[in-house]
Amino acid sequence: MLLPLLSCVTLLLANSGTVFAQTATVDAAVSRGTPANLASGWIYGIPDTQGQIPDHFYSDVGYRYGRAGGAQLVKPGERGWIWGVNEYKSRFQSALSNYKTSRKYGARFQLLLHDLWGADSTQNSSAPYPGDNGNWAFYDAFLTQVISDIQTNAMMNGLDIDLWNEPEGIYWKNRGVGQWVNMWGRGFHRLRGALGTAVLLVGPSLATPPATGNSWWDGFLGFVGTNASIPDQYTWHLECGAGCDLKASNSTLKSLLSSYNLPNRPNNVNEYGTGSEQVPSGAAWYISRFERYDTLGLRGNWLSTTALHDFLAGLVGKPNAGTSAYSATAGGYWPTGEFQVYKYYHLNQTGTRLGTTGSADGGFDVYATNTGSAVKILCGSKAKTGTWDITVTNLKSLGLPSSGSITITTYEFPWTSQFGEVDTPVNLGQVTHTYSGDSVTWWVKFSSSSTAYAFEFSH
Ligand SMILES: *[C@@H]1O[C@H](CO)[C@@H](O)[C@H](O)[C@H]1NC(C)=O
Ligand SMILES: *[C@@H]1O[C@H](CO)[C@@H](O)[C@H](O)[C@H]1NC(C)=O
Ligand SMILES: *[C@@H]1O[C@H](CO)[C@@H](O)[C@H](O)[C@H]1NC(C)=O
Ligand SMILES: *[C@@H]1O[C@H](CO)[C@@H](O)[C@H](O)[C@H]1NC(C)=O
Repeated sequence: MLLPLLSCVTLLLANSGTVFAQTATVDAAVSRGTPANLASGWIYGIPDTQGQIPDHFYSDVGYRYGRAGGAQLVKPGERGWIWGVNEYKSRFQSALSNYKTSRKYGARFQLLLHDLWGADSTQNSSAPYPGDNGNWAFYDAFLTQVISDIQTNAMMNGLDIDLWNEPEGIYWKNRGVGQWVNMWGRGFHRLRGALGTAVLLVGPSLATPPATGNSWWDGFLGFVGTNASIPDQYTWHLECGAGCDLKASNSTLKSLLSSYNLPNRPNNVNEYGTGSEQVPSGAAWYISRFERYDTLGLRGNWLSTTALHDFLAGLVGKPNAGTSAYSATAGGYWPTGEFQVYKYYHLNQTGTRLGTTGSADGGFDVYATNTGSAVKILCGSKAKTGTWDITVTNLKSLGLPSSGSITITTYEFPWTSQFGEVDTPVNLGQVTHTYSGDSVTWWVKFSSSSTAYAFEFSH
């Protein structure tokens, strides 16, 4: 257990003035609507036994999107459709249980067909795929089974179907773009016809963020318009570290959609963050990006087998986590350092979202709200050390004078380890800044690449 030991804190982080060129900004005069926890989702991470992780771990962080399909159940009897219908059923039961858990908290749920199929990287090299040798009968029978199970289990509310995960990687085993888009077209029309428009059909769920000159993006976007199978959400992943940035995805997707004459749809990055970015600083950076670009985000998950169905993708720990004595069914959960970031994001950053920009170097970003009586700013580096400035402009729009002084409270969001317990952010105290010109600037030093910070001032 990590206790907030104020006596150990020697550095107050709301340091006055401008010291470095790289600045993130908050525009207090720009209102961007009510917060909706766009980044509070995750893939897998939910135990197959409902209620195993206590309610408040979901509700405190504003859980709003899940994604699963019974992946990584590896024992004979639970390996997916390619091993026969009975082996499919165990995976479906796991997905159904995770769906019910998600709906309990009002979250939507993406059902992963590649997991139900058994192509979750546990398959052997002779595993069949939809449309192999031009034969679609095995896939058509699979869709018949999935549709029937969704209907029988009244699973349509809040359901998305993700037709295939990361087809350009190991999950599609070099079948190529043509066979994949034909599967998409075939599956899309079958599912839409049977389930209607209330069940969203989402894709392409490529591991590669939107890119020009990429045969998978080009193949998909070139196909779905003429095939009348435009996804209800455009989905992709941001799990490649320095090369992955929603800012670039946003502008590249915009230009791709325009060149293929396709409509805008809601965007959903249904896996975000590498393992090393899954620390409070990285979480705050991603949250800032998702909120700015109005994109849904689901945390990536870097565990495997039964631990994949546990820990809410890094937000909780428990005794023996990550050791040989780990038990998938044991309780005793506690919050991690990242949990505290999402809790603050959901429970404290209420009111109205404010306009923001990230630092020009892409390494630092802010998410800010105005509660009506206080401005609350969460900030994070992309899991790196460094020093950046924060400038808040248009203070007069908050009813403050254009020059004067502001007292800022700083909170620190520490991280101890992947499963390490952190029970609360640390209040680092208050610093008063004098300002003029209707804006105030201070600087933030990230001595640790994993810590995030929040700043609050009243108005
Ligand atoms: C490979 O997997 C398929 C199912 O995809 C199974 O029918 C087959 O028996 C497996 N082969 C070996 C050698 O395990
Ligand atoms: C969409 O593509 C699938 C697979 O190629 C095909 O079977 C279907 O007829 C196409 N539908 C339309 C409306 O073009
Ligand atoms: C880009 O971001 C804006 C918000 O700044 C959002 O409304 C829009 O949907 C995004 N578009 C794409 C294609 O990502
Ligand atoms: C967040 O809000 C809760 C409930 O109002 C409050 O108890 C807590 O102190 C706040 N946390 C911070 C870091 O301000």
